[in-house]
Amino acid sequence: MSSSQQAVLSVHELDCHYKGKQVLHSVSASFPPGQITVIAGRSGCGKTTLLRNALRLNEPSAGRIEVFGQDVTHLNQDELMDLRPRMGVLFQSGALIQSYTVAENVAVPLEQHTRMPLKLIERVVSRKLELVELAGSEHLMPSELSGGMRKRAALARTLALDPEIVFFDEPSAGLDPVTAAALDELIVSLSRKLNITVVIVTHELTSIKRIGDRMLFLDSGKAIFEGPLRDALKSELPPLQEFFRLSDPDQHVEESGS
Ligand SMILES: Nc1ncnc2c1ncn2[C@@H]1O[C@H](COP(=O)(O)OP(=O)(O)OP(=O)(O)O)[C@@H](O)[C@H]1O
Ligand SMILES: [Mg+2]
Repeated sequence: MSSSQQAVLSVHELDCHYKGKQVLHSVSASFPPGQITVIAGRSGCGKTTLLRNALRLNEPSAGRIEVFGQDVTHLNQDELMDLRPRMGVLFQSGALIQSYTVAENVAVPLEQHTRMPLKLIERVVSRKLELVELAGSEHLMPSELSGGMRKRAALARTLALDPEIVFFDEPSAGLDPVTAAALDELIVSLSRKLNITVVIVTHELTSIKRIGDRMLFLDSGKAIFEGPLRDALKSELPPLQEFFRLSDPDQHVEESGS
């Protein structure tokens, strides 16, 4: 799966600067369909910046971004609107609108991007809530949900428009390990069931092993590894070895037989 033509998303020699400071250095990577790619690396290495560039929420200073085979590097925000429904995103805060019910929150993208009649919106919302195991929570307010339920409600909203690719930035942040594991499992099962390409930033090693098919590893804004997770775990690159060792100090990295 090396050809970027087959990739749902690819970035080519991407540079990004913030106020003159270079944060991404010629990052190239491609994200194959239906696979879950974990983006990892130390805090401040540019993971969130890369996601924001890929979504065109930040402007790269050089390089090219292709989504669904289309060069989106120079599309303006109006032109991007056509692609937005196909790209879902769940940022760390995953903020729900506090004054809206769960159902109203999930309905927001449907109201913004479609002309569905109300009855149909209600059916789609209920279906999305079932997918994230929140059936029957339509009328609850965000303040009545646990942290894990809030993430799942935000995920239902992300899935409202049936995106083909979904970006997650530290989705389990702030959750206890059991709730985080359940969210990981949900992300994997939805990706498989709905054939969604997933790009996920996480630094939790248990989470990485649970969900990742592939890894993109950033080191000071450079992509130093891209490939199957099992190869990353066996990599002899010092930054990767250090990352895995520090993330998992008590255990030897498993040798993957497959
Ligand atoms: N809006 C901004 N303005 C200026 N500098 C920024 C901005 N956002 C990020 N940076 C800087 O860019 C670098 C990369 O930040 P980024 O948020 O992409 O890192 P990250 O890998 O997501 O880190 P973390 O794991 O802590 O979330 C950091 O040095 C950060 O200080
Ligand atoms: Mg970040």
